[in-house]
Amino acid sequence: MIGRLNHVAIAVPDLAAAAAVYRDRLGASVSQPAALADHGVTTVFVQLANTQIELIEPLGETSPIAAFLERHPEGGIHHLCYEVDDIGAASAAMVAAGSRVLGDGKPSIGAHGKPVIFLHPKDFLGSLIELEEA
Ligand code: CO
Repeated sequence: MIGRLNHVAIAVPDLAAAAAVYRDRLGASVSQPAALADHGVTTVFVQLANTQIELIEPLGETSPIAAFLERHPEGGIHHLCYEVDDIGAASAAMVAAGSRVLGDGKPSIGAHGKPVIFLHPKDFLGSLIELEEA
């Protein structure tokens, strides 16, 4: 069902510093920061030839990545995002298989303006999974 790896997300305590690491030290093309209030994060995308890296910094008091950064103060890999053709069908298939969809189970609009869902890490080898309709 899943298609391409859309991005690997890295939670970071300082987005400007993290973007500078990828831009200045690793020589990658990085986007301008974009605030995603609904998701409680500010993002920068690093464009690579075959995928993207999503750098995410907490936004607001109740950011869902705040607890992760308390456990990983230097930052760390937060989730993997795979593309799917139909987010509704993918979500239904996950629920039917007994996999937990986070939140209210309904797709929300992700960083690319496309519908996304998140899947519980305990059901996926300890990795938080994002599915994005391509
Ligand atoms: Co993501």
